[in-house]
Amino acid sequence: MVEFTLDGQAVSAPEGELLVHALARHGTFVPTLCHDAKLDPYGGCRVCVVELEGAPRPVPACATRVTAGMSISTNGRAGELRRTLTEMLLVEHLNANPGGRPNELVSLAQELGAEAPFVLPDAKREPYDDRNKLMGYDPDACILCARCVRYTQEVMMCSALSLEGRGAEGAEARIVPTWDRSWLDTECELCGGCLSVCPTGAIYEKFLEGAPAGQEQGLEKVKSTCTFCGVGCQIDLNVEPETKRIAKVTSDPSYVSNEGDLCVKGRFAFNFVHHPDRLTEPLVRGEDGELHPTDWDTALRLAAEGLRRVMHEHGTQSVGVLSSARLTNEENFLIQKLARTALRTNSVHSCEAT
Ligand code: SF4
Ligand code: SF4
Ligand code: SF4
Ligand code: FES
Repeated sequence: MVEFTLDGQAVSAPEGELLVHALARHGTFVPTLCHDAKLDPYGGCRVCVVELEGAPRPVPACATRVTAGMSISTNGRAGELRRTLTEMLLVEHLNANPGGRPNELVSLAQELGAEAPFVLPDAKREPYDDRNKLMGYDPDACILCARCVRYTQEVMMCSALSLEGRGAEGAEARIVPTWDRSWLDTECELCGGCLSVCPTGAIYEKFLEGAPAGQEQGLEKVKSTCTFCGVGCQIDLNVEPETKRIAKVTSDPSYVSNEGDLCVKGRFAFNFVHHPDRLTEPLVRGEDGELHPTDWDTALRLAAEGLRRVMHEHGTQSVGVLSSARLTNEENFLIQKLARTALRTNSVHSCEAT
């Protein structure tokens, strides 16, 4: 740990910790847009600037590390600069809401009382249409912070997205799937990670295009476990309060098993939950050979009677239990417990292991 000064107070932090994190632990929250704790320091948008005594100009808190004896000021000139930078970003931010996702730039502008002083006449960018059905990108909402590009490079370890045209004369800076192809023709696995880290909602769920601003904030988050494989990623089902239907799936970086990352199934394949063909009540086959709805007590009693009869007539090893990695580890543990102790069979297996 080293000591440094924060707005006139002596504080301490591990040497080398990013300032933005050290400051937050001391209750001083510096706004960020391009920063993501999961990604390498970038320092692109500059809205996190703070003053560092002795430095010729303000420094980005997300890309500056704690050193012993440094003196940091987060108010005064840095605050003014932050407001001006926010206004500059707003000048080219022509669509604040492509698909109902949270917009950190708009929230920051409201917090700082910043408004676009004018709109650049040539700010409108050429729309981007991609033939994938899950993710859309609106260049008019993009602030070119490169969080999406860095996520796909640093977390997904692929080069599906590029930031192109920056600084090139006559070119329009924008995010594009690499080589100007569709997302579907790159290494992209449609995991939606780039969408989840985008601070302005410029990358959004296509099926929510046109959703009202702030739609995501109005959804009820129900924490759950993805049932598609044994990794057991933690997810939030975002449920519409009135219809009780799932509008989207998100995940939080604080979730231990997956740190907010998901694959295409966990993030986008949730429509089965409301599919009309889905079984919603137990069915028991009657004398007529057809399946008939019944209540859980009856179904469980009949299943237990059937198992008991087979075990009695043919021995316990005549019964086997097939489980699934789509269940949680805890549920699989209970199933093998049921097999070995209640049914007294060691024939227990998972369908995913074969
Ligand atoms: S969806 Fe996933 S793999 Fe595809 S570009 Fe985004 S982060 Fe990369
Ligand atoms: S799409 Fe989003 S994350 Fe990517 S550069 Fe634009 S604003 Fe940043
Ligand atoms: S999100 Fe993907 S990796 Fe995670 S549990 Fe679901 S299917 Fe498995
Ligand atoms: S958040 Fe620090 S420079 Fe963008």
